[in-house]
Amino acid sequence: MESTRNKLIQLLAENKESYISGQMLSDQLHISRSAIWKHMKELERDGYEIEAKSKRGYRIIKSPEKITENTILWGLKTNWLGKKVIHREMTSSTQILAHQAAKQNEGHGTIVVADEQTTGRGRMSRTWHSKKGSGMWLSMILKPELPPYLAPQLTLLTAVALADTISEISNTKPLIKWPNDILFSNQKKCAGILTELQAEQDKIQYVVIGIGLNVNQELSDWPDEIQERATSLSIETNKQWEIQSIMQHFLSEFEQTYDNYMVKGFSEIKKRWEAYGFKLGELITIQNLHETRRAIFSGIAEDGALLIKNEDGSLEKLYSGEIDW
Ligand code: BTN
Repeated sequence: MESTRNKLIQLLAENKESYISGQMLSDQLHISRSAIWKHMKELERDGYEIEAKSKRGYRIIKSPEKITENTILWGLKTNWLGKKVIHREMTSSTQILAHQAAKQNEGHGTIVVADEQTTGRGRMSRTWHSKKGSGMWLSMILKPELPPYLAPQLTLLTAVALADTISEISNTKPLIKWPNDILFSNQKKCAGILTELQAEQDKIQYVVIGIGLNVNQELSDWPDEIQERATSLSIETNKQWEIQSIMQHFLSEFEQTYDNYMVKGFSEIKKRWEAYGFKLGELITIQNLHETRRAIFSGIAEDGALLIKNEDGSLEKLYSGEIDW
């Protein structure tokens, strides 16, 4: 039942500009025309607006804005990612929920989504503001067959898939600030990634990758000190966005990138990441307890480290430390 509904939504979504006939739907889905009609009625109950015209067929006029497990599933074009959705209108943090779910054996590819997070968390114990309905608050449970030391590559891979998604849907050129911030050219941050690992010595049990993408916020949605650094897709493009279609786009992009990485390794991700790299090839300032120095940001290393070129020409990997971009 559900997979027929998925296929139906997909067929309708692919033919958004035109009508698709009841006969064609019935042939493709191997169900009767009256069964198609019943599905249409249920879609309408879920908030879809469907136009039915005699002799022409059906057409989706409007998809529901409200996110539910079903509306995420319908129209999702992935093979394994997001096939199980845990959705909450409100939760403390999708990361917390995803860890609980993974511990209860939820499988590879399960996603946790919330409309609102009351204690959304960012890197280094920072707060992630997650106002209701204003952004994509998503955590993915993955169980990759990788040694734990390669986990940072997953963060970089996620950043690439997210930057690709933003650039494809909005025709903008986002930048990735090492390791995981997505910025616009005005250097304001619109997204962040939080990768949390549960591992034994040489085996990843599971990873939870959390993505926070600011979509429809206005500046006044953030406290003053954050307004200087934050932005949303809506602020940058002057329009409101439908969060679940962005999520569906991202999930497809992520799945393809991940599958490709599992077969071909990291080198393609590295190239794609560097194409988005904020301040790549430029001088940056590195500060730690003992010193402040300048070096050229020359790329990322296989293990996800930041590669810098010192004044004496030597290359060095950095894993942490304050970088004054
Ligand atoms: C950062 O830039 O510091 C990372 C931010 C990650 C935020 C996302 S929102 C979905 C998921 N749930 C959380 O509590 N955090 C991540």
